[in-house]
Amino acid sequence: MKVIVCNNYDELSMEAAKIMAATIKEKPDGVLGLATGSTPIGMYDNLIEMYKNGELDFKDIKTFNLDEYYPLSADNDQSYHYFMNKQLFSGINVKEENIHILDGLSKDPEKECADFEKLIDEAGGIDIQVLGIGQNGHIGFNEPDDKLYANTHLTDLTENTIKANSRFFEKESDVPTKALTMGMGTILKAKKIIILANGKAKHKVVSELVQPMITTNNPATFLNAHADVTLICDKEAFEG
Ligand code: GLP
Repeated sequence: MKVIVCNNYDELSMEAAKIMAATIKEKPDGVLGLATGSTPIGMYDNLIEMYKNGELDFKDIKTFNLDEYYPLSADNDQSYHYFMNKQLFSGINVKEENIHILDGLSKDPEKECADFEKLIDEAGGIDIQVLGIGQNGHIGFNEPDDKLYANTHLTDLTENTIKANSRFFEKESDVPTKALTMGMGTILKAKKIIILANGKAKHKVVSELVQPMITTNNPATFLNAHADVTLICDKEAFEG
């Protein structure tokens, strides 16, 4: 795994945006795997800036998001649909029909997940996948467990994640207890992966991630089995 340690969040956001921009320029009809959470927001701001100054064009870009809460409607302001629209899509020229986010209200989650996998394959696979990391090492919503799922699936959220994510909701009981998420195999099939982490709260899981080992107790460590992963973190996440 390649590691880039940045002095601060702004630097991290620029490093991540530069790598994304390089992929988009190299393949203007490429496929982006996108993430939510607070960490990639700065990177999205930079990508919007690059679009506005004419450096980037998203007109033929396709996107697939990692995950969505379940059950939650797309217009709920805590949904990842809402997040992506606000933080990125409304600021760039990506076409609506090229945006793919799992439906948090799907009546048939199993079919929803299988269709999503098929759409990724039909698009030619993900060229670059952006990841954040949960305080417990989750990527997407692949939570630490004895076994991890390979494909996109419906999952229960752990207490730790519900607590960590409750900061965005009015109260903890409003956080959905389930989510639809790409599986570990879906993520690992991406041709290139960048994983972003900032702040002391991520130090423990980041220090496990940079060890040459894999454990289902920290799903992000599976990235050590991928040939093209770059961890972009700040000093606090790296050094504690
Ligand atoms: C959520 C998302 C993850 C994200 C994580 C970290 O749980 N499902 O994809 O990585 O939050 O969020 P933050 O970047 O706010 O720490």
